[in-house]
Amino acid sequence: MPAGSTNDPVLKLEDLCVFFTSKRFMEKAVVVKAVDGVSLEVGRGEVVALVGESGSGKTTMGRAAIGLTAPTSGKVTLVENDLEVDVGKAKGKTWKGLRKRLQIIFQDPFSSIDPNMRVYDSLKIPLQSQGVKDAGEVSRTIDDVMRRVGLPKELLDNYVFQLSGGQRQRIGIARVLLFNPALVVADEPVSMLDASLKGDIIHIIEKEAKERGTAFIFITHDMAVARVAAQRIAVLYLGKVAEIGPSDRVIENPYHPYTKALLQASPTIEPGMRDKTKEVNVRGDLAISTEHPPGCVFHPRCPLVMDRCKTDVPELKELEPGHWASCWLY
Ligand SMILES: Nc1ncnc2c1ncn2[C@@H]1O[C@H](COP(=O)(O)OP(=O)(O)OP(=O)(O)O)[C@@H](O)[C@H]1O
Ligand SMILES: [Mg+2]
Repeated sequence: MPAGSTNDPVLKLEDLCVFFTSKRFMEKAVVVKAVDGVSLEVGRGEVVALVGESGSGKTTMGRAAIGLTAPTSGKVTLVENDLEVDVGKAKGKTWKGLRKRLQIIFQDPFSSIDPNMRVYDSLKIPLQSQGVKDAGEVSRTIDDVMRRVGLPKELLDNYVFQLSGGQRQRIGIARVLLFNPALVVADEPVSMLDASLKGDIIHIIEKEAKERGTAFIFITHDMAVARVAAQRIAVLYLGKVAEIGPSDRVIENPYHPYTKALLQASPTIEPGMRDKTKEVNVRGDLAISTEHPPGCVFHPRCPLVMDRCKTDVPELKELEPGHWASCWLY
């Protein structure tokens, strides 16, 4: 099987590229390769984590996966009941249908829901706008999603501003579950929450994946969170997949120097695990530049750089079953 593929895929990204051109007055246009040739499948009921530093292209990839950002090239396909929909090209009725099937949860539950609304209305309005008008059905669906996100029905009468951060994030999730989506992009859903609440949110996602077969793309910069939340981890660097594989293997036996650097910089990974990555002392600060060097994009910061890395682009290689890295060391 090719890199990034899986059995029973719900969503397929094939050689996906998303480039942005920024042009300031009198300046040369700069092309930012936010996503640069990524192939990845997400299976039914699977949670795949995208990890990487700020600017590595996680959000852009997530948005392209649900059709909110058009690919520059490559393809995004939703697979359901043996029907394939080209997400990047969907228009009209197909596009409207996709909006229910492909959903996104944001990092900040405070900015995505009107605080002056009653909780009940914050769930009723999106349902009605999708054509669910029957009062009985509206109230049954709302009760059902409240149960699934572990909130008591009594909260429905409260105003959104009265909720805690954790409760708001649960409502944020409830709002996307209203439509029983095929795939949900969760963009840093726990980054703003206390450690004790992170696990609760991850558990809700896990349960939805297991019980309903919902697929998730879980975006995080925290390796420890990725490990708990996802079955597979894809490590992104400057829009490319540096390494991808089963979560435990990527963390216990990382191959790519960039993955090792991320683990080493991760305060939430056990120190014993971090010690194994000691040889990797990454050059430069961890802020990503938008310049794409020739050869391996990571070579200017790689402590193990070789001549070849400066000119030749490494392909992903399978180093253990289902565990791939793109690095000339292997
Ligand atoms: N609409 C846009 N126009 C121009 N450039 C963009 C746009 N959206 C993203 N970019 C650029 O694309 C690159 C990837 O950005 P993206 O937001 O996908 O990264 P990210 O991994 O989600 O980062 P963060 O962890 O900070 O959320 C960055 O260099 C960013 O500046
Ligand atoms: Mg982002």
